[in-house]
Amino acid sequence: MLPAPIPGLEQPASGPLVDRFGRAHTYLRVSVTDRCNYRCTYCMPAVGLDWLPRAQVLSYEEVARLVRVFASMGVSRVRLTGGEPTLRRGIVDLVGMIARTPGVTDLSMTTNGHALAARANDLAAAGLTRLNVSLDTLDPERFAAITRGGNVAAVLAGIDAALEAGLQPVKINCVVIAGQNDGDLHAMVDHFAGRPGTQLRFIEYMPFEGNGGQKQHVPAAELRRRLAERHTLTPIERQGGGPSRDVRLDNGLVVGFISPITEHFCDACNRLRLQADGSLRTCLSRDDAPNLRDLLRGGADDAALEAAIRAQVFGKVAGHEAHVDGDFRVFEGVMTRVGG
Ligand code: 5AD
Ligand code: SF4
Repeated sequence: MLPAPIPGLEQPASGPLVDRFGRAHTYLRVSVTDRCNYRCTYCMPAVGLDWLPRAQVLSYEEVARLVRVFASMGVSRVRLTGGEPTLRRGIVDLVGMIARTPGVTDLSMTTNGHALAARANDLAAAGLTRLNVSLDTLDPERFAAITRGGNVAAVLAGIDAALEAGLQPVKINCVVIAGQNDGDLHAMVDHFAGRPGTQLRFIEYMPFEGNGGQKQHVPAAELRRRLAERHTLTPIERQGGGPSRDVRLDNGLVVGFISPITEHFCDACNRLRLQADGSLRTCLSRDDAPNLRDLLRGGADDAALEAAIRAQVFGKVAGHEAHVDGDFRVFEGVMTRVGG
């Protein structure tokens, strides 16, 4: 459901970061790099995407300053994404800087897990609270095909290391792609039911310009139907205002469904996305993005940054219009720049 503008609502000069629809934004995803050691088919084209030149990527000091400004406007939850965030040198230092920011109460990361075995302890010690790991199949060959060269054993070792480091729950993000990995549903469920501390989330494939824009999702209702052939599903109250709709299976595993295509959640959207190049994406589906980096580097003070952010958030679109039938609008941009 798309929200309707609230008549007469004006852009506030202070207080929560609200938009024309009255949505308050308390959650910021920060993409720290567009680079990745994998090249998932749903996230990047096979060839022909240049990495951003380093000078265009925000420094850690710049990221930390922007996070401070966002936190002063009520953003309390921050998630580091990429590309692959663990690839950026000194990432543990950035985690420490953000964890110490007044107002930030929850600091998480989404990673492909490949390099996690070596870093999980340091990330936890620096103040990371939770982790999401992208894993779409347990089958080594299918995994290598989807990630274009990934090593599933390394990712599983990374998940184990995260659990041992106390980064719980570890949420496993599984993007379900029709005809590629939707047959792996039960294998994924059985595996993670045997790994206490993990949860599994099935995400509908989103068509982006950068992945060919094909309609390849499997509706969440269909996944629930398939799971119900072998399990009882008990719905769980939504926590944290996120888009996931969760159930507990009779084997104890919590399974979430994120369904951007068939069950829109834009009316409750509370998220913003800071891209690695310093542009702010107020909606996942749109490249709206004037660049905060240029303001920062042009010498803007915190009040000027705040005013720019408030104006941009107030102008946020209602949401995306991708749906199953009729007009199937493709999301703008490439996921590796946006960070999920
Ligand atoms: N559709 C759905 N989910 C995607 N992700 C990346 N690209 C897509 C897409 N096209 C998810 C991955 C990753 C998170 C950052 O975003 O699961 O874990
Ligand atoms: Fe929010 Fe845009 Fe995603 Fe809808 S599509 S949930 S408005 S980010």
